[in-house]
Formats: sequence, C-alpha cells, structure tokens
Amino acid sequence: MSNTAILEIDGKKYEFPVIIGTENEVAIDIDKLRGTTGAITLDPGFKNSGSCKSDITFLDGEKGILRYRGYAIEELAEQSNFLEVSYLLIFGELPTQAQLEKFENDIRKYTLVNEEMKNIIDGFPKNAHPMGILASLTSALTAFNPQQVNVGDDKQLYDAVCKAMGKFLVIATWTFRKNMGYPLNYYDNTKGYVENFMRLMFELPTGPYKPNPTVVEALDKLFILHADHEQNCSTSTVRIVGSSHAGLFASISAGVSALWGPLHGGANQAVLEMLEEIQANGGDAEKYIAKAKDKDDPFRLMGFGHRVYKNFDPRAKIIKKAADDVLAELGVDDPVLSIAKKLEEAALQDDYFKARNLYPNVDFYSGIIYRAMGIPTEMFTVLFAIGRLPGWIAQWKEMRLNKEPIGRPRQVYTGSPLRPFVKQDQR
Ligand code: SDX
Repeated sequence: MSNTAILEIDGKKYEFPVIIGTENEVAIDIDKLRGTTGAITLDPGFKNSGSCKSDITFLDGEKGILRYRGYAIEELAEQSNFLEVSYLLIFGELPTQAQLEKFENDIRKYTLVNEEMKNIIDGFPKNAHPMGILASLTSALTAFNPQQVNVGDDKQLYDAVCKAMGKFLVIATWTFRKNMGYPLNYYDNTKGYVENFMRLMFELPTGPYKPNPTVVEALDKLFILHADHEQNCSTSTVRIVGSSHAGLFASISAGVSALWGPLHGGANQAVLEMLEEIQANGGDAEKYIAKAKDKDDPFRLMGFGHRVYKNFDPRAKIIKKAADDVLAELGVDDPVLSIAKKLEEAALQDDYFKARNLYPNVDFYSGIIYRAMGIPTEMFTVLFAIGRLPGWIAQWKEMRLNKEPIGRPRQVYTGSPLRPFVKQDQR
C-alpha cells in the first residue's frame, strides 16, 4: 500500500499522506487539502469521512466485528460485566479487582442527586417523553456541578467520570418514576450498579422489592452491548459539542438528544411499535416487507439496516439469543417475538434487503427483552442511553486529551449570488 494518495485538480497533481489503522483501514489525510488546492470535500452524512483517530472501539461492518479496546464483544458479553466494561472503555485497560472495587466505590460517592433537581422534573408534564426529560436533567446537572473540569488534572477528570456514571443512572430512572407518578428513589450504595437500576425503577415504598437475578444478568449484558460503537451519530455529537470545551454533562445531554431519533437509538422503541402494529393487523410480515420496499411509502423496517454493518450486527445475534433465554426463564410467551423472527426470516430472504445488505441491528430484538422485563416502550431508548454512557464519556475524554480542534465542517454554498437590498415597498 502506497503511503501517499495523488489528487489531480485542473491538471495539477497534489499528494496527500495515507494513514493505515491498526486493522489496516486506509485513510487519506486531507488536513492540508484546502490550503494546498483551495478545494474541500463534500460527504453528506459523513459516509466516507473519518472525524478522528481513536483507540477505543473497532468495528468492521463487512465482517460483523465489534471490539472494545481490542476485546471481542462476544467475549466481553459472555465473561465481563457492565461496570468492568465501562472502566475498560474509559481508562483503556481491564481493571484489577482492586481497581474495579475502587471505581464502583468512587461512583457511589456521587449517586445522591441534588434534591433541587426534583423541582425541575416536577415542571414536566406527566406524559413528557423520558428522553426529553433525560436530556434536560442531564444538562441541568451542569447547574449543580458548575466547576469546569480541568481535563489536564487526572483527579478532576476521574471525579467527573464517576459523577457522570453515578448521577446519570439515577436521573434516567426518575424519568420513568415521574411518568408513573411514583416517588423518586435513591441509589442504594450497598447494591450493584445494574441491580440499582431495577430498584430505582420499580421499588415502591409500599413493599419489599427483589430484582429477578435473570433480569439483572440480562440487563448487564444488554448494557455491555450498547456501551460504545465508535463514531455513531450520538457519539459524534458528544465529541463535537465537547470540542468547543462545553462540559461533560452538556456534551452528554446533546448525545441523549441525538440518540432519541428513530433512525438511531429511538429505533428500539420504533421496532416494538412496528411489531405491535403488525400484530394488530393480523401478523402479516410480508405486507410490511412490501411497504419497506415501496419507494413511495416512507415506512422503513425499523431495527433493520445500518450505516456501517453490511453483515449481521454482532450485537443483534447476541441479543436474539438472550431474548430466547430471558423469555423462557421468565416464562413469557410474547407473540411479538415470533412476529420479529418471521419478519427477520422474510427480510433476509428478500432480494431488496439482500441487495442492500440490510440485516437486523442492535435495536431489532432489544425491545422484546425490555418488554419482557416490564420496561415500558418509551423507556427503551433511555436504557440505550444508560448503556452508551461509558462510551460517550470515553470518547469525550479521548477527544479532549488529544486536544482535538473545535469541530467546524465546511460547506458548498449553492444559494443566491450577491444581490442589492430591496426596500419593502418595492418587493
Ligand atoms: C443504531 O451508527 C451506529 O453505529 C448506530 C448504532 C449504535 O450502536 O450507535 O448501531 C445504533 O442507530 C442502529 C440503527 C437503528 N436504526 C434503525 O433501525 C432505523 C431503520 N434503519 C434505517 O433507517 C437505516 O438503515 C439507517 C439509518 C440505520 C442507515 O441508513 P443509511 O446508512 O443512511 O442507509 P440509507 O438510508 O442510505 O439506505 C440505503 C438503502 C436505501 O435504499 P436505496 O435508496 O438504495 O434504494 O437501503 C434502504 C434505503 O431506502 N434502507 C432501508 C432500510 N434501511 C436502509 N429500506 C427499508 N428499511 C430499512 N430499515
């Protein structure tokens, strides 16, 4: 592979360096492009453009590979746990037992959310979407933690990481409690992180609550599978907002808003709503496959397709198996699961989907498990956000420590040429 790329514009040749990644990905470094040629590139949706170099996550869309800091997602899902994977993503190495215990205890220092935050959540209408509340509360955390983090100070950065991990989980569950009219719960520092999620969500003051260990184990695995995914829409949002040196909470709040979209993390809610609609209309999967293929119909098969994966999303494979195990363990017979499998089978045999390499993605089966766990549909994307939090933190930290420049893309102007102002009585 040559270490330079040649670009010819108007008969003049320009050379640009070629960068090779760990897994032999090839990138043309166009840092000097405009300065030497006067030209820019144009790439709507950044389908062909790398925004950064990163040591955190590697994925190969053609081969269906996903690794966090070099470790295969299949091994992490099988042998690790969410807090350990969070540590790995954020600090770069699997922790020793002592390091993990310290991390968990340091997170526990910040699990109490300022009581005045309750005034903010009380201002929302009862039926407000949990993702809108979560984005607002996350941004509001800045007001209660106003000190700008000096990323050059290891301890300040570490404390900010633990604060984000501790408080985000609590306010994420408050969105559900608000919706249900329940009192807001507190984190129990004697319990585990994922077990606390279940308690924060479902424990009521009127009686004892013991989370089902099968559910806690399955959720831990789901959070691992959602923990990072290189430069996806919401992570790129966190990086670009952070590149202006906006704080960690402000950057995460922006990531929550980006994740909310039905083309991104909001797809897990949209999948369940689609499957329930198919069920309500007689379970005719073929009819919805036809709708998805009809260019005049805006309907898309939610949970299918991916910007990067042109093969099976490795996470979808793991979640599909977990769906079978969890529903069997909980004794849940959800007809929507069989509709999902029927839909998947039909789509994978259909030429339209095969020609476009459209496979089930991480969102296709996750909602089925969440529903079996008693999680309401509108909370599915909040769970995605809880899983993705360590990835957002890791990517924000890497961007700041690498002293990356403020993100400010160029454009191709196609509007009106210069024209004189026209007085109102002459328009
Ligand atoms: C996530 O980036 C990440 O890593 C995201 C994520 C993460 O972990 O952060 O993996 C999480 O967001 C997963 C994706 C969840 N979204 C959905 O399930 C929504 C449904 N899928 C899509 O809308 C779509 O597939 C995207 C948005 C995911 C990807 O869109 P692209 O890469 O921009 O592809 P495209 O829209 O250009 O589609 C290419 C072709 C088009 O047809 P043609 O114009 O070539 O004829 O495929 C078609 C599209 O119409 N197509 C679909 C389809 N997805 C793409 N047709 C029907 N149903 C679909 N779901």
